[in-house]
Amino acid sequence: MGNKIRAAVFPVAGRGTRFLPATKASPKEMLPIVDKPLIQYAVEEALDAGATKLVFITGSSKRAIEDHFDTDPELERALVEAGKQDLLESIQGIVPKGVTCIYIRQGEPLGLGHAVLCALPAVGNEPFFVHLADDLIAGEPPCLTQMAAEYDRHGGSVIAVEEVPHEDTSSYGVVAVDQSNRITEIVEKPEPENAPSNSAVVGRYLLAPEIFEKLQTTGRGAGGEIQLTDAIADLLGELPVYAYSFKGERFDCGSKVGYLKATMAYGLKHPDTGDEFREYLNEICEK
Ligand code: G1P
Repeated sequence: MGNKIRAAVFPVAGRGTRFLPATKASPKEMLPIVDKPLIQYAVEEALDAGATKLVFITGSSKRAIEDHFDTDPELERALVEAGKQDLLESIQGIVPKGVTCIYIRQGEPLGLGHAVLCALPAVGNEPFFVHLADDLIAGEPPCLTQMAAEYDRHGGSVIAVEEVPHEDTSSYGVVAVDQSNRITEIVEKPEPENAPSNSAVVGRYLLAPEIFEKLQTTGRGAGGEIQLTDAIADLLGELPVYAYSFKGERFDCGSKVGYLKATMAYGLKHPDTGDEFREYLNEICEK
């Protein structure tokens, strides 16, 4: 791969009210799918794409995320003593050597655009990934790796998109593209009658560093928040931004049903649970 993207930004300051009471004292990004929290899937995807600097934009009650990516000598000792080598490796390998975790507090809940702007001191003047852990994508290769390959072909910025039902456009950033998939228009959460297409932004971005200048001047948009979508719209006239239809299946783990679907899909393919879980599902389907 020619142009390696080194930094990945994970905006994780949101409160996750849709999952209360589960998320009262514990971050929504720590909700597990089988045996790994959502944020670990996110980190694994960024590592697969070559990232070596993981930048978490956090807020209050998110300390469990820092603990998760830190070492735990006491637990490691206990696993060694119990002879549980597999489990030991599963916790030691979470953050490989040579990878740095950086935590920045967002301070005020001013929106996704503001969260990304908070990453500027850690990212600097380089292209970078933004990954929203709520959107779990089962892709082979993983979605960010697909996007890095796309970036290698034409540079610019790359945003992952997916067709959604027309009535759902008001939950997403929505794009219009030209023949070469270059984005010509992007709108945050349009009502269906105003949506430029059904092509919705999912939570994966590969952004040129010029986005930071735009974020500094973008005013508050939809919901009174500083929107990443609006800063991308400001970039369109100056630099190419491409829409990328990823290969794979997305689970919206920000919704209860999406989360259950993900648990089901990952539970069925997990080596520890797949067979027994399939049997159980067959059993309850027959009832
Ligand atoms: C954010 C973005 C939106 C994007 C969505 C993908 O919205 O603002 O453009 O389509 O993520 O999940 P949120 O879901 O945080 O409201």
